[in-house]
Amino acid sequence: MKSEILRLLKESGGYVSGQQLCGRFKVSRTAVWKMIEQLKKEGYEIEAVRNKGYRLVDSPDVLSRAEILSLTDTLWAAREVVCFAETDSTNIQARAYGEKGSAHGTLFVAEKQNAGKGRRGRGWESPAGLSIYMSILLRPDILPQHAPMLTLVMAVSAAEGIREAAGQEVQIKWPNDIVLNKKKLCGILTEMSTEIDYINYVVIGVGINVNQEEFPEELRDKATSLRIETGRSVKRAGIIAAVMERFEKNYEIFAETQDLSGLQEIYHSFLANVDCDVRVLEPGNEYNAHALGINERGELIVRTEDGERKNVFAGEVSVRGICGYV
Ligand code: BTN
Repeated sequence: MKSEILRLLKESGGYVSGQQLCGRFKVSRTAVWKMIEQLKKEGYEIEAVRNKGYRLVDSPDVLSRAEILSLTDTLWAAREVVCFAETDSTNIQARAYGEKGSAHGTLFVAEKQNAGKGRRGRGWESPAGLSIYMSILLRPDILPQHAPMLTLVMAVSAAEGIREAAGQEVQIKWPNDIVLNKKKLCGILTEMSTEIDYINYVVIGVGINVNQEEFPEELRDKATSLRIETGRSVKRAGIIAAVMERFEKNYEIFAETQDLSGLQEIYHSFLANVDCDVRVLEPGNEYNAHALGINERGELIVRTEDGERKNVFAGEVSVRGICGYV
């Protein structure tokens, strides 16, 4: 009921009468009043005017279940939300819930991670209350070898969601880093539990740097946040909702063909490396090439210096701009 009250207040933009709320939720005026008082305690600024009702003046930047649900219009993505004030890693939690049978689309969100995980065994800086640390649990009915493409589905969705909610022209550094002004704004880590020909579950973890004002020395040249780039703070729940709505749509497009053919064009429009010289870092093999775009499997199409066209598979490979991170 809390998320529904919030949704009604947000959607109306003006006053909602106590009577309307009582009728809608089939509860007493006192129950509505108590809920409003609880919301105020959580930081919501709500005006109450006799004969008019309640009006939401401002919402806090909280990552609560009610706040996220009140903003998200989806059928299955983030219809279940589990929030933590502090946890080890939302990916670890999503996997544990995945083992216990939690539903497809369940979203795990933390205000702080004390063991945030990055790609290639690295950590992920996860200070409290400033950024987004979330993981979605999926139970896709696809072959295990197609699952890595889901990371790129999330990359497109994160890029679209951040652009929509924060109004910033972000780009994708292949395969799945989101960058703003050539610095990393968002990272994605996909993990899964599979049998030979069957997926138990997939967990896609997304870290978005939102309101951090500084980074540790070693990351300063490469990482950024929305706050640093725009000088403004952004409410995180709106970004989560936008990313989840985009992800649900893009996932359905992906699931139809089990490849990226339906998303290639939009992915391409965000791709920072397109028509750029890159250094391809394969284990035991590094070379310079010219990046041309991605194919329907999400592989980076490059032309090597001796003119050969190659498809670079994301798994073990990364690319670096010749003159910097992108
Ligand atoms: C990367 O190295 O680029 C991937 C970073 C992924 C970080 C996110 S934060 C939410 C989720 N939980 C984790 O422990 N990691 C991912």
